[in-house]
Parts: sequence; C-alpha cells; structure tokens
Amino acid sequence: MIFPFIFLLSPSVSSYGFVTYDFATDMQQLNDTRQNDDCFFNASEITSVTIEQWPTNCIEVWSIAKFTSRSSEVPYDKLKNTFKRLAVLRGAMRIENTTFTNLSFFGKLQRISNIKRLVTSITDNKDLKNANLLFSLSYTFPNSPIQIVNNPQLDVSSLCGNINYENFAEIYVYNNMKDCGKTLHNLYRLSYFVIGCVGTNFTIWNIGNYSNCTSLFGDTEITGTTGMEKFSVLSKVKNITGRVNIHDTSFENFSFFGSVERMTGNKDETNFNIHDNPNLTRLGMDSLKYLYNVDAWFLFNISNNHPEFCLTMEEMQFFTSSNIYINRFEAKFCNTTTRKDGEKVCIYHTLATLDNNCPHVIGDILVTSGDENDTQKLSSVKYIYGSLAIVNTSLTDLSFLGNLTNIAALGDTSPALQLISNPLLDNVYIPNLEYPFSPGPHRVVIQDNAPGLFPDTSSCLTYQNQIKSYVFYDGADCYGDSGVVQETENSSSSLNYQYFLLIYLTYFL
Ligand SMILES: *[C@@H]1O[C@H](CO)[C@@H](O)[C@H](O)[C@H]1NC(C)=O
Ligand SMILES: *[C@@H]1O[C@H](CO)[C@@H](O)[C@H](O)[C@H]1NC(C)=O
Ligand SMILES: *[C@@H]1O[C@H](CO)[C@@H](O)[C@H](O)[C@H]1NC(C)=O
Ligand SMILES: *[C@@H]1O[C@H](CO)[C@@H](O)[C@H](O)[C@H]1NC(C)=O
Ligand SMILES: *[C@@H]1O[C@H](CO)[C@@H](O)[C@H](O)[C@H]1NC(C)=O
Ligand SMILES: *[C@@H]1O[C@H](CO)[C@@H](O)[C@H](O)[C@H]1NC(C)=O
Ligand SMILES: *[C@@H]1O[C@H](CO)[C@@H](O)[C@H](O)[C@H]1NC(C)=O
Ligand SMILES: *[C@@H]1O[C@H](CO)[C@@H](O)[C@H](O)[C@H]1NC(C)=O
Ligand SMILES: *[C@@H]1O[C@H](CO)[C@@H](O)[C@H](O)[C@H]1NC(C)=O
Ligand SMILES: *[C@@H]1O[C@H](CO)[C@@H](O)[C@H](O)[C@H]1NC(C)=O
Ligand SMILES: *[C@@H]1O[C@H](CO)[C@@H](O)[C@H](O)[C@H]1NC(C)=O
Ligand SMILES: *[C@@H]1O[C@H](CO)[C@@H](O)[C@H](O)[C@H]1NC(C)=O
Repeated sequence: MIFPFIFLLSPSVSSYGFVTYDFATDMQQLNDTRQNDDCFFNASEITSVTIEQWPTNCIEVWSIAKFTSRSSEVPYDKLKNTFKRLAVLRGAMRIENTTFTNLSFFGKLQRISNIKRLVTSITDNKDLKNANLLFSLSYTFPNSPIQIVNNPQLDVSSLCGNINYENFAEIYVYNNMKDCGKTLHNLYRLSYFVIGCVGTNFTIWNIGNYSNCTSLFGDTEITGTTGMEKFSVLSKVKNITGRVNIHDTSFENFSFFGSVERMTGNKDETNFNIHDNPNLTRLGMDSLKYLYNVDAWFLFNISNNHPEFCLTMEEMQFFTSSNIYINRFEAKFCNTTTRKDGEKVCIYHTLATLDNNCPHVIGDILVTSGDENDTQKLSSVKYIYGSLAIVNTSLTDLSFLGNLTNIAALGDTSPALQLISNPLLDNVYIPNLEYPFSPGPHRVVIQDNAPGLFPDTSSCLTYQNQIKSYVFYDGADCYGDSGVVQETENSSSSLNYQYFLLIYLTYFL
C-alpha cells in the first residue's frame, strides 16, 4: 500500500525534552526546498558580519535564522532595518543565548513556512521579556518540534492555548518565567526536572509536578504498578498534544484523564496506545470529544489488557465517528443497558421479540427467511452494538434501515454488515450508514444477492463512498481482486475507511 506521506527523520529528543539539531544537515534540507538564489541566507548564525548578506529586499527568505550571543552585538536599529521587509521565513527560527529583550525588530514577520520540520528554538535568552511575535506568528506546516526553554523573564503561558500552536505535538515549553499550564517557576533553575506541562515518562515520583497542568504537550508515557492513585493529580488536564502510551500499569481505568476533551497527535506512530494493562477494564475518559491528527488519521491501539476490557455504547459511538485508524482493538461492549442521554436500549434476542421503538440495539441481529414481515421493527434503529446479518431472505431492498447510522461489532472478527444469499435483493442503499466497524478482516460482506447488484466497479465504489467502508463483494474487492481486501489481523488491514479516503483524496483530487 502506498503511504501518502513522506515522514522525515525526526530530530532526536533527549530525556529532558531538549531537541537537538545539526545546522549542516538542516541547511542541506533547506537548500533543497529553496526556489531562488536571491532570497537565500545560508550563514549558520546572524552576526555583525553575516547580517550584511541578509537579502533585505526580499519579503520571503529561505533561511535558518539563528540568533546567538554574537547577534546581540548587532545594534537594534540594524536588526530592525535588515528585517523590515521580511514577512515569511521559509525555514526555521532559532534564538539562543541572546541578550535581546524583545523580538520587535521583526516588524512584519507573519508566517514561518518550515516544510522540512526543522527545529524552532527560543532558548537560554536571559533578558527576553517580550516575545509577542510568537503569539501572532502562523505556521504553514504545524508539525515541527518547537522548544521554548530557559527564558527566565518570559511569560509564554498564553502560547499553549494559542490556536496557531494547537496542532504542534512536539512543543517543549519549560523553565520560562511562566510556562503553559500556568505553572509559575522560580527564576532560572538549572534542574531540567522541574518542568511545566511537557509530557514525559510519568512516574509516581515526578507526577506531583504536573498537578497544575490543564494541557500536556509532547509524548507521554505511563507505566508502573504501584502508587497509581497519585495520578489523580492529572484530573485537570483537558488537552493532550502528542502521543500517549499507557502500558504495563495496574490501572483499572483512566479516570485520572476524566477531564480530557481533546487529544491531538501528529505522528505516523500510534497516537494513543493502551496495552498490557492487566487490570484495565474500562476507559473512563468520559469527557473525550475530539481526536485529531494533523498529518492524517489518529492511530489507536487497544491490546492485551484485562480480558473483560469494555467500551460503552457512547464511547464506541464516539470512536466510529472520529477520524481514527485502528491498529488493534481488543475490547467488548460493556454490559450496561442505560445511556447518559436516556435513550432506549434493547438487547437483541430474536427479531420477533425485539421491541418496536429501539434506537440502540445491543446484539448480533440476524434477519433470515421468515423474518421479512418483522423488518419494520428495525426502522427506528440508529445504532447496532453488534453485527447485522441479512441472510436467505426474499427482501428486495433495505428501506427499513432508514435510521441506521452505525454498526459497530466488537469482540470477534465477523463483519459488521453481511448481506448474503438474498436472491431478490437488488438495492442495498442504506442512506445514513457510515463507518461500520468490525475488528476485521472484513467490515461489509455482500454476496450472492440479485444478479448484477453492482453491475460494474464504479457502482461498487460509489457504494463504498456512501457507507465509507471497504466492501467485500462476491468474494473480492470492488475491482474484482480477491487478494487486496484480504485483511489479516496484523497487516495494514483493519483500515478505517478514512485511510482509503485519504489515498483517494491525495492521488485523485
Ligand atoms: C545549495 O544547492 C546548490 C545547488 O542547487 C549548491 O550548488 C550549493 O552548494 C548548495 N548550498 C548549500 C549551502 O548547501
Ligand atoms: C552560502 O552560499 C554561498 C553562495 O551561494 C557559498 O559560497 C557559501 O559557501 C555558502 N555558505 C555556507 C555556510 O554554506
Ligand atoms: C548558551 O550558552 C551556554 C554557555 O555557553 C551553553 O552552555 C548553552 O548550551 C547555550 N545554549 C544554547 C541553546 O546553545
Ligand atoms: C525592543 O528592544 C529595543 C532594544 O532594547 C528597544 O529599543 C525597543 O524599544 C524595544 N521595543 C519594544 C516594543 O519593547
Ligand atoms: C519510560 O520508562 C520506561 C521504563 O522505565 C522505559 O522503558 C522507557 O524507555 C521510558 N520512555 C521514555 C520516553 O523515556
Ligand atoms: C518533581 O520532580 C522531581 C524530579 O523528578 C522530584 O524530585 C520531586 O519530588 C517532584 N515533585 C513533586 C511535587 O512530585
Ligand atoms: C500549583 O499551583 C499552586 C498555586 O498557584 C502552587 O502553589 C504550586 O506550587 C503549583 N504546583 C506545581 C507543581 O507547580
Ligand atoms: C484546549 O484546546 C482548545 C482548542 O484548541 C482550546 O480552546 C482550550 O482553551 C484548551 N484548553 C486548555 C485548558 O488549554
Ligand atoms: C489486578 O487484579 C488482580 C485480580 O484481578 C489482583 O489480584 C491484583 O492485585 C491487581 N493488581 C494490582 C496491581 O492492582
Ligand atoms: C457481560 O455479562 C456476561 C454474562 O452476564 C459475561 O459473560 C460477560 O463477560 C460480561 N461482559 C463484560 C464486558 O463485562
Ligand atoms: C407477510 O405478510 C404478507 C402480507 O402482508 C403475507 O402474505 C405473508 O404471508 C406474511 N409472511 C409471513 C412469513 O408471515
Ligand atoms: C426513524 O425513526 C423514527 C422514530 O422511530 C420514525 O418515526 C421514522 O419513520 C424513522 N425513519 C425512517 C426513514 O425509517
């Protein structure tokens, strides 16, 4: 399968969150992207000598604009004059060890366009008080690492709620006067352990330092089996940006993340990885409303936790309507039959005994020969927590599924929707169904119905587009290839439809 994005090697991150970089490599990458010779500044730092090479007439400049202690020797007016036309920096900005008190010499700078994901750094500037520029800058490619560290007079607390930064996952903000999460630190500390709300390897020893955090930035890893009650200090966290990996813990649920509303990833690796937590039976993140990944889908993995690990109806509804790509999804539905919204829930036994007005049905629904006159009972069904199989009937269409919005099968690998051996069925349109889910290998199987149900590839593809899921039709994919949709448990297979859509959009639009 073609991967639609080229992921560059990420810069390495040392244990305390500093990002390292190498000028020569970065300059080479930048040089590959520049579009002309005139607006290029290739010096490794801005000094009173190199500043003369800055292309002062250019509105857009390709450069890794690095300011150091030597840049502080350049008079402010000279800086101001040099950068007076600069509106777009194509590359990265690094301001390190300067004695600047402000960045106001960038009079017109509006945007940084950093296609190569070069590190941005505002670090070790002992006098920097005013970096308002940072709050108004926009970024064309919001997925490079940013560090804003050790600026003892700088208040960057508003940065992390700033919309221009909400898509950055690798953002290291700490040891400033005020960091994100409104943590007020003492003046300059040389210990890198006292940090703001930068995600890290959380342990019972450092977790207390995060008690004021409302947002977490950067990759977060939680592991361990003792003292886990201390993690309740995270209960103020609302936004998490970066990957989260919770494994080998004794947690029974993640209620310490009960206030988390948004999780934003931006890597091609698993964004939320929940594995090997033997006592984990519930998720417990009841406020979660938004999963997002700037590059593509949000990669999700749930594997090898407690065998009774379960998701509620509401949680599953949220996942099937989010832009997630599921790696493994080892979960069942919880045995709850009540919902927070009070809507009616029915447990399915047989179609004949199913109540008439059930928007939510738990169980594997089978409609077979003799059930045709009862199908109206399904007309009020919106969500099926289980599977739907329509087999050996004399039905001609599925108009009785007019309210059906989602089918989510958990716990086994049978398809979410099966339409098999209905010889008169020549119309399978289900107007509201989207993203039917099953852990695999196939989500939708349509086989041996009216001849020519999908007369050609395009009618099959159209149907896929409607229901936003791959279809396995008469033993093959829409193109008639019986191999392609052969999805196996560990391959790149239990794809959410979004993956399909993404490739489609990337290559054909
Ligand atoms: C940039 O690329 C050009 C060729 O396009 C090459 O001649 C030049 O040496 C490169 N400069 C740097 C700084 O890598
Ligand atoms: C910058 O570019 C100029 C000409 O394009 C070249 O002579 C010089 O060696 C380059 N400097 C660096 C540091 O790459
Ligand atoms: C700033 O200068 C100090 C002392 O020379 C050095 O240890 C530190 O690494 C420098 N910071 C950066 C970001 O280069
Ligand atoms: C920025 O710093 C320079 C030099 O210290 C000063 O002259 C200027 O007034 C400052 N500008 C702002 C907006 O603080
Ligand atoms: C976190 O801690 C675990 C266990 O000590 C270790 O295996 C892992 O590499 C650490 N992760 C990071 C990102 O430091
Ligand atoms: C903060 O972290 C440091 C270093 O890990 C640790 O020594 C200290 O006890 C922590 N503080 C709290 C309140 O947990
Ligand atoms: C949390 O905030 C309180 C009140 O502002 C402060 O006293 C405390 O030191 C902060 N804790 C941490 C770990 O930053
Ligand atoms: C969480 O993110 C949203 C959207 O970016 C923002 O509006 C909100 O203020 C953030 N909340 C916190 C506590 O940072
Ligand atoms: C996990 O659950 C088992 C019983 O299911 C219990 O014996 C064990 O103590 C629990 N482990 C921890 C670390 O809480
Ligand atoms: C639900 O209840 C049944 C029997 O009552 C039990 O076998 C099953 O494991 C339970 N499932 C969960 C997720 O608790
Ligand atoms: C279904 O209803 C039709 C007429 O409404 C009737 O003729 C037929 O016998 C019924 N079929 C079954 C299996 O009850
Ligand atoms: C959807 O359900 C409502 C309520 O049960 C019902 O009145 C309506 O006819 C259904 N719509 C369709 C298209 O079946």
